[in-house]
Amino acid sequence: MNLAAKYRPRRFGEVVGQATVIEGLRLAVASTEIRQSYLFCGPTGSGKTTTARILAAAINCTDPHQGEPCGRCDRCEILQPGEVPWMSYYEEISCAQASNREALQEALRHRDLGTIANRRVYLLDEAHALDYNAQSWLLGPLEDRDSKPLFILCTTEPEKLQSAVRDRCIDVAFGAVADQDLAGLLLSVAAKEGIQLGVPDAVGLAQQAGGSPRNALSLLDGSAHGLTTEHRSTAERIVAAMAAHNVGTMLVEVREAVASGEFRAAAVRGLAVEYWLDLLAHKRGAADSYRTSPRLRQHFEVARAIPEEVIASRLKVLADLDLAGQAGLRAELALEAALVQCISATDLDRHLAVMRRLDRLQSVVSRLVENPEGGAA
Ligand SMILES: Nc1ncnc2c1ncn2[C@@H]1O[C@H](COP(=O)(O)OP(=O)(O)OP(=O)(O)O)[C@@H](O)[C@H]1O
Ligand SMILES: [Mg+2]
Ligand SMILES: [Zn+2]
Repeated sequence: MNLAAKYRPRRFGEVVGQATVIEGLRLAVASTEIRQSYLFCGPTGSGKTTTARILAAAINCTDPHQGEPCGRCDRCEILQPGEVPWMSYYEEISCAQASNREALQEALRHRDLGTIANRRVYLLDEAHALDYNAQSWLLGPLEDRDSKPLFILCTTEPEKLQSAVRDRCIDVAFGAVADQDLAGLLLSVAAKEGIQLGVPDAVGLAQQAGGSPRNALSLLDGSAHGLTTEHRSTAERIVAAMAAHNVGTMLVEVREAVASGEFRAAAVRGLAVEYWLDLLAHKRGAADSYRTSPRLRQHFEVARAIPEEVIASRLKVLADLDLAGQAGLRAELALEAALVQCISATDLDRHLAVMRRLDRLQSVVSRLVENPEGGAA
C-alpha cells in the first residue's frame, strides 16, 4: 500500500496545513450547522476528497466527539484505508464520467438512504466537467429540502461553474501547504514507518512537493530512504529480473508492484537507480560491506560482465526520465519504457562483440610478433 493511501487523515485534526477551513467545518458539524452544500476548490492532492469523507462520516457517525467522527462505528468505515466500501449514505461521482444531464441524473438516482444514516452525501469530483445542462439540472437537487442531501463539489477550476451553482454552495478554499508543514508530515510518517529520515532530507522532499501533501508522501515513497523491509522482497524480484536481463519478468513484476499500490513509479525508478549504482560500486572495487550483503553479492558477477560506460548510460536513461510531469498510467508507461531501454541487450552486446574482436586481434598480433613466419602462414 502506498504511503498517501495508508496515511490518509481520518479526523479533521489530522488534516495538515488547512487549519482555518478545517476548523470551520469541524465547528459546523459540532453545532449541527451543516445546512448547505459545499464547493471545495484547490490544487490536486491538497485534501479535498479526504476532507469530504471525514465530513460525511462526521455528520453520520453514531458517536461523534466535538465534530470529529469516532472512527469505529459502521458509518465511519469510509475512513478506513483502501477502497471506499459501498455506503448507502456516501458516494463519490466523477463528473468527467457523468458530465451530461442524463448521466448525472442516473448517477444520483440509485442510492437509497434506508433507515441507517442521517444524511446522504454526494461528492461530485471534477465538478467543472459538468456541461451547462447538467449544471442547470443540479440546481434542483442542491435545493432539495425534503431529503436534504449534502453535496460536496470538488474542483480545481471553480470559474467553470455557473454562478447559480456557486451561489448555492459555501466556498471552501484548500491551499498549497507550507513546506514546514509538509516536512512535519513527512517526519511523522517516516517515524511510524521506521524510515530513516533526517530533518534536512525532509525539508528537501517538502520543497520538491509543490505544496501538495500527496506529492510529498509519494516522494517519500520513492526516495531510497523510503524503502522499508516490507518493500524489500518485491524490490529484490525486480532487481533480479533486471540483473538477468529478463524483460518479460521485469515488466510483470513492475506492473504488479505499481498496480497493487505497493510502489509508485518514482519508487521503482529509485530502485533501478540504486541497482545500477551498486554495479558501479562493484566495478570501482566495492567496499567490503558491499561484498557481505547477499543482495549485493549476487550483483558481483553481473557487474564484472558489464562495462562501466554501459552502466553510466543506464543511469543517464533513468536520470533523464521525467516522472514529475506525468501521472498514473502515463508515468507507469514512461517508467517501463525506460527500464526496458536499461536492460535491453543491444548496446551491451555490441560492446561485448567489439571486446571479443579486440581480444582475438590481440592474440593474432602477439602470435605474429612471437613467430612472424608461423603467424603469416
Ligand atoms: N491536507 C492534508 N493533510 C494530510 N494529508 C493529506 C492532505 N492532503 C492530501 N493528503 C494526502 O494525499 C492523499 C490524497 O489527498 P486527497 O485525495 O484528499 O486530495 P485531493 O485534493 O482530493 O486531490 P485531487 O484533486 O487529485 O482529487 C491523501 O490520502 C493523504 O495521504
Ligand atoms: Mg480528490
Ligand atoms: Zn463513527
